[in-house]
Amino acid sequence: MTSLASLLQAVAQTAQQMGPPGGGPGGRGGPPPGFSYSDALMELIRFVGSFLAIGAIGFRFGIVRRVRGMSDEARTLLRADNAALLGILGVLLLALNTLGAPFLTAIADNKSFAEALPKNLNPFEFKLAMLALAFIGFALVRATPSFGWTLAAIGVLFTILQPLYTGRNFSAKVNAVHVLAVSTWLGTLLVLALVGIRGVIRSNSSGVQRAELVADLVNSFSPLALTASAIVAITGATTAWIHLKRISALWTTSYGIALLVKLVFVLIVVVLGAWNWQRVRPSLGNEGTEHVIRRSATMELTFAALVLIATSVLVTLPSPR
Ligand code: HEM
Repeated sequence: MTSLASLLQAVAQTAQQMGPPGGGPGGRGGPPPGFSYSDALMELIRFVGSFLAIGAIGFRFGIVRRVRGMSDEARTLLRADNAALLGILGVLLLALNTLGAPFLTAIADNKSFAEALPKNLNPFEFKLAMLALAFIGFALVRATPSFGWTLAAIGVLFTILQPLYTGRNFSAKVNAVHVLAVSTWLGTLLVLALVGIRGVIRSNSSGVQRAELVADLVNSFSPLALTASAIVAITGATTAWIHLKRISALWTTSYGIALLVKLVFVLIVVVLGAWNWQRVRPSLGNEGTEHVIRRSATMELTFAALVLIATSVLVTLPSPR
């Protein structure tokens, strides 16, 4: 927790120190104007929640279902119950964000919780209902897999894409698709690493069987990752253009500097992803290679976590005028 706070602080201070003179609430070295650690932490909770909830759905529908000719043992191994548990954790984090954000506003503005809630309660209540649906769906996965996963997928998608069917803010709509795409790409990779690859490595199957199953899982993931990462690039560039308004805002505002910090980490994630796709994936299938992909996927996910931390600072900063 302390190291997370220091990371948030480091990104915020980089944005402040490299940004325009003038200083924030704490002057140079302090956080930039408009920035709040608790808001950034709430955003981070939302991003991790989206990664886990969408990642579980991506794992089930985008990977496990696409692996053909699975042995009974492999089928049992990939029953995806553990993925559903990660999905539940994701839903709980999204609910914490939905209820926690007005709670923090209430404390900051010295209001009651009810007063801090949005004026129009309908979208807020609908979002909580969709989260409850997703929770029930994930909880039913063990008893009735198809029904449980379908319910969970409906609940999660309606939650993440809410700005698409409520409100008129174009940038919020683009952001919703951006979050869906990043979660489909890197959230699914997270669940694949935690449940799929880890589960196979720990199983009692022979070395060759383990290596072949991991190769199948990774090969099924690749098309999903390629499509989602292309959508990430398009929606990311669009939302960046909407917020920056002029290119010079990239180096003259705290928002722009925070975006540059994020893009450095994004570049590293892309390079590692390309390495996994072009170099590691073709070598999979031989005994022992499952450990290689596990290590390189962990590295990619570590930098993805840094992207999320930088993004949580970015979305908390005021956009350039
Ligand atoms: C590894 C790739 C990426 C990840 C994991 C990622 C993650 C995220 C997340 C979770 C958000 C929050 C959206 C929201 O508040 O609802 C976001 C916002 C944003 N992303 Fe990305 N992103 C990635 C790539 C990119 C790229 C390539 C660009 C630009 C070319 C970009 C530009 C932005 C901008 C400008 C915002 C802020 C929008 C705002 O201020 O509301 N992202 N990103």
